[in-house]
Amino acid sequence: MPENDCDIKDISLADKGQARIEWALKEMPVLRILMEQFARERPLAGIRMSGCLHITTETANLARVLVSGGADLVLCASNALSTQDDVAAALVAHYRIPVFAIRGEDNQGYYQHINSALDHRPQLTMDDGADLVSEMHKTRQELLAGMLGGTEETTTGVIRLRAMAHDKALKFPVIAVNDAMTKHLFDNRYGTGQSTVDGLLRATNILLAGKVLTVAGYGWCGRGIAMRAKGHGAQVIITEIEPLKALEAVMDGFRVMPMLAAAALSDFIVTATGDKNVVDRAHFEVMKDGCVLANSGHFNVEINIPALDDMAIKKQQPRAHVDEYLLSSGRTVHLLAEGRLVNLVAAEGHPAAVMDMSFASIPSDDFISLITPS
Ligand SMILES: NC(=O)c1ccc[n+]([C@@H]2O[C@H](COP(=O)([O-])OP(=O)(O)OC[C@H]3O[C@@H](n4cnc5c(N)ncnc54)[C@H](O)[C@@H]3O)[C@@H](O)[C@H]2O)c1
Repeated sequence: MPENDCDIKDISLADKGQARIEWALKEMPVLRILMEQFARERPLAGIRMSGCLHITTETANLARVLVSGGADLVLCASNALSTQDDVAAALVAHYRIPVFAIRGEDNQGYYQHINSALDHRPQLTMDDGADLVSEMHKTRQELLAGMLGGTEETTTGVIRLRAMAHDKALKFPVIAVNDAMTKHLFDNRYGTGQSTVDGLLRATNILLAGKVLTVAGYGWCGRGIAMRAKGHGAQVIITEIEPLKALEAVMDGFRVMPMLAAAALSDFIVTATGDKNVVDRAHFEVMKDGCVLANSGHFNVEINIPALDDMAIKKQQPRAHVDEYLLSSGRTVHLLAEGRLVNLVAAEGHPAAVMDMSFASIPSDDFISLITPS
């Protein structure tokens, strides 16, 4: 593949990436069936597709299925820190799929790569967070006429697209994959539950048993994180703004309280709300010494990092993916993964079996909903 047809970190990582992609495929029985079916039927023959997804082993297997179905596919990252560089290299070297993604790319690099994926002039898009569709509508409107439609994986992306449709800004239909029961019931709950705890443990190696762990948001992701943290022996507290979900958390056996009260008690705080500044200046001021903060929501806005930077008199990195902030009160606060999706940055994202269900969701009227231009 010519060099300007992709932008990855290091092609020599390709063999390592391929071995991990094949390992993941063992846990993806539905994609294996689809790969054979697509190779026979070629339902995507000649269709240009651009995907803005987390570049992981599971996504690589989805990409292989699409290409086996005839798609002319390119990929870019949906998060600057979630790219697995060995997987990107394997996609390019072994599966001939162009990738524009380098782990740790800055904001400019991130958008350059999105634009490289848009240069492919897609007829179909695949998004995880709606950045590709959003960039197309903002800066590459000449591409809109050729679009057939798209897919959106995550809760936050679906919310963004529904807002665009409401404002009559969205120009093509998008399948809201997240609305499928096979997505949010399993991926958001069991996938985020396991991989978020995995991220906390890999980043800190702190014993969870006996610790106080607060989960902000008792939605699909929050329920999963709370359930798995409880399984490790943590004393779990929930914060919620929707009374019914707060009540559900109480009945599931958790303590529920406002973040200001929870912050003073917690050893860990994990956000999974899709909201902004859920953990804010007032909360940093009352936190216990050594409190660990992590986010599993889509964007790195749930913890107010600019306020934390402002309050800190010193910042250092004692371990990979851990930033230690020394506050003027003499207490320290630890932020994991720069406030980005902790399960994808500090761990490897969802296990393959759950992504198999997410990627193989079947579109039908009662199963997956469509976000249509109004
Ligand atoms: N880490 C991952 O791999 C992963 C996987 C799936 C979804 N997500 C993302 O996680 C986020 C949550 O997704 P979800 O499917 O659980 O959504 P959801 O809508 O089911 O749940 C979000 C919950 O947060 C609550 N909430 C909102 N603002 C709050 C606040 N300030 N304080 C406390 N609670 C608040 C809401 O009432 C709701 O119950 C989204 O950004 C989504 O895109 C991440």
